[in-house]
Amino acid sequence: MRVAIGADHAGFPLKQQLTGFLAQQGHTVFDLGAHSDDRVDYPDYTLAVAYAITEGRADRGIMICGTGAGASIVANKVKGIRGSVAHDTYSARQAVEHDDMNLLCLGSRVIGQALAEELVKAFLEAQLLREDAYLRRLAKVKSLDDQR
Ligand code: RB5
Repeated sequence: MRVAIGADHAGFPLKQQLTGFLAQQGHTVFDLGAHSDDRVDYPDYTLAVAYAITEGRADRGIMICGTGAGASIVANKVKGIRGSVAHDTYSARQAVEHDDMNLLCLGSRVIGQALAEELVKAFLEAQLLREDAYLRRLAKVKSLDDQR
């Protein structure tokens, strides 16, 4: 899968670890920065990851800030992005299966590398379940994009 990944300064060390993990797992990784732990603003990097998805350069995205909260707030302002923090594997998987989440937000000050790898794996291995109930809800979510 083509995966765009980004981080602010807080998420930078975890991003470095996850890019290696993603490549090892056979994914094509687009590292959109930040490229050091110098202080930066998470909206800039979240938007870079979000646009990589909406412009068709990546299939899914991962954005890491301190808590994942800032990243998820920004992610959901972009048309076509369905992003969430998921710090347990059940949510990381089900948010794709039921909600078609395409941008996983992680908090590097909350979780460690081992859990982050499990979350990323659960997120990327999951597929939307094309059942009527999920598709109906998804259509309602997508219609909100057009109401802004
Ligand atoms: C950075 O200091 C921190 O505020 C940011 O990474 C994040 O936690 C925002 O949600």
